[in-house]
Amino acid sequence: MNLYIITGTTQGLGKALAAQVGESADNELITLGRSPDAPVRGGAHLGVDLADTKALEEVCDRIELRIRGKRYAKAVLVNNAGVVSPVGPIEKADGAELERNLAVNLVAPMLLMRRFLRATEGVALLRRIINISSGAGRRPIAGWAAYCAAKAGLDMATRTIALDCEARHKPVEVVSLAPGVIDTQMQGVVRSAEVADFPDLERFKELHAQGQLRNADDVARDILRLESEGRLAGEPVADLREVAARGAAAAR
Ligand SMILES: NC(=O)c1ccc[n+]([C@@H]2O[C@H](COP(=O)([O-])OP(=O)(O)OC[C@H]3O[C@@H](n4cnc5c(N)ncnc54)[C@H](OP(=O)(O)O)[C@@H]3O)[C@@H](O)[C@H]2O)c1
Repeated sequence: MNLYIITGTTQGLGKALAAQVGESADNELITLGRSPDAPVRGGAHLGVDLADTKALEEVCDRIELRIRGKRYAKAVLVNNAGVVSPVGPIEKADGAELERNLAVNLVAPMLLMRRFLRATEGVALLRRIINISSGAGRRPIAGWAAYCAAKAGLDMATRTIALDCEARHKPVEVVSLAPGVIDTQMQGVVRSAEVADFPDLERFKELHAQGQLRNADDVARDILRLESEGRLAGEPVADLREVAARGAAAAR
């Protein structure tokens, strides 16, 4: 049996990942997000606002109780939930929204990694963490200070945790993965910004108009296939398109 814990599964990439993980009877699925507790195919959804640190620690206690005494072939944490807002120059940003961005995109994934590594030690033969990052963490985009900073922080946290695991001979695979541009609600938020706040607006509108956004189901399928083939290991900061292309080239 494999354990998957996935955040942000109400829509977009997270929804597609959860649906595909839930299809296999070999997988136990725990999803985390703001909607109330509910059963899901393959497991359970636990309600939590990831920006609320106390609530997040409590939901981690609940996960520990759920998995206590079980043994898994593989345990995988996917930190997928994300938020792009606030968009615009920092002096115009709402302070609480800015803080919320960093909480959801950076603090929550770090707290979840901390609790996941503790809870799954000796419980799963193989452990993997996939942090859904962004190209925006690797180059600045005007108007996205919080999002770029949070994703850059997530990349660096991933690199550091990979080193920690290696130094302590813990066989944990950790990757911060930029998924490419996906046709989700987040891109809708991006396109609804004012050009004065977001100078790259036209470029994102063009990508959409030219049909260059990938479908969330296809991206989820690629991530889960590469994960199951063990191909997300190696580089702690990676780009899905490059990993997939390397695989395709090797197969030729
Ligand atoms: N779309 C792209 O082009 C793109 C490109 C690069 C990277 N990414 C990354 O890919 C990941 C998925 O993005 P997406 O495009 O699928 O976004 P999305 O459609 O906006 O979905 C975001 C998910 O995160 C959840 N979430 C946001 N704030 C939350 C909170 N405080 N507590 C719990 N859940 C919360 C949302 O739940 P609610 O329904 O409760 O809001 C939703 O399920 C993100 O990490 C994003 O940064 C996306």
